[in-house]
Amino acid sequence: MILVTGGAGFIGANFVLDWLAQSDEAIVNLDALTYAGNLQNLASLAADPRHIFVHGDIADSTLVAGLLAQYQPRAIINFAAESHVDRSIHGPEDFIQTNIVGTFRLLEAVRAHWNGLNDETKQGFRFLHVSTDEVYGSLAKDEPAFSETRRYEPNSPYSASKAASDHLVRAYHHTYGLPTLTTNCSNNYGPYHFPEKLIPLMIVNALAGKPLPVYGDGQQIRDWLYVKDHCSAIRRVLAAGRVGEVYNIGGCNEKPNIEIVHTVCALLDELHPLPTYHSPLTTYRSLIAYVTDRPGHDRRYAIDASKIEHELGWKPAETFETGIRKTVQWYLDNQSWVSNVQSGAYRTWVEKNYQGRS
Ligand code: NAD
Ligand code: TYD
Repeated sequence: MILVTGGAGFIGANFVLDWLAQSDEAIVNLDALTYAGNLQNLASLAADPRHIFVHGDIADSTLVAGLLAQYQPRAIINFAAESHVDRSIHGPEDFIQTNIVGTFRLLEAVRAHWNGLNDETKQGFRFLHVSTDEVYGSLAKDEPAFSETRRYEPNSPYSASKAASDHLVRAYHHTYGLPTLTTNCSNNYGPYHFPEKLIPLMIVNALAGKPLPVYGDGQQIRDWLYVKDHCSAIRRVLAAGRVGEVYNIGGCNEKPNIEIVHTVCALLDELHPLPTYHSPLTTYRSLIAYVTDRPGHDRRYAIDASKIEHELGWKPAETFETGIRKTVQWYLDNQSWVSNVQSGAYRTWVEKNYQGRS
């Protein structure tokens, strides 16, 4: 079996669902169920004995050591993190705790366990750390996309904490020989994405007739990847990646934010047209509102995914057009999931993040 951390969050839950749809290898899923963790994402596995959910923190060394001893996983995939840049600006402490201290404690527990394995099991063991392209900082307009050798220049507390975790993983391979793999992926989108991030926020706000807040001039560029393509890349790296290596994962879909928002609006206009008989709006685009920019906002991210493509033969299956259509349709079909995650805590966050922006 494998041990996944953070498997109740956006990417982790998609990974767990896809893994068990394709394989009978069981998963132990360790998740602290922060605001971003949601067991409803995994409701379809409620009666599935191949999914063992454990509520706990990656920084709880005793708990992690116990799980490793009990389940003897052949691999760990570390998704657990605080992941939202805006939250890291308002309160960086949790990011330091989970992304740095948590990853460190997890690595320590895994190292102790791995040291006690027999040679054959030790050799086959893997620790795969899931990270982000944001560790590389911001690209100028005409600079080449991030390759794996790009210098780390993190600019937000989130990306700095992820960069620190990447360095720890690297050091545990270099110093102790722990068989690690690291993936640095671009922005994901798709089902179960918490509606504090750009794409799901725009969909749920539009459906509620609320403003669509575009930071600054909306010309910041991200490289979008459908979440299920990220999951297939992780499976591929786990199966065939070279130990100690880093693989960048991206969709070759560089788009300015404002274009993303226009695309979401156009899809909603088509799939869920505004009821014109009692609304003065004819298109969701009328809801777009430019607001004060995010401090330290990175201008452009782009991934050079040629290493994973050439070495491991991985390519995304979705284009942006097919992936975004599926995503908008998923939110239309799962409006009860959306209302369930819009708890009191969610409303408090939205107020905190947007009320000070003109
Ligand atoms: P998310 O915020 O949706 O989910 C994170 C999950 O981790 C949640 O289920 C949460 O409960 C859990 N968690 C948080 N702290 C924990 C702790 N101390 N112990 C155990 N569990 C804990 O994040 P996501 O978007 O699914 O991202 C998953 C990983 O992928 C993160 O490491 C993130 O940095 C990385 N990543 C995300 C993106 C993206 O676009 N979302 C892109 C590249 C890389
Ligand atoms: P986000 O989804 O927070 O991902 P990240 O900051 O990790 O790239 O934001 C994606 C882009 O969208 C980023 O450039 C910030 C911008 N953005 C807005 O313009 N308005 C919003 O309300 C949010 C949440 C993000």
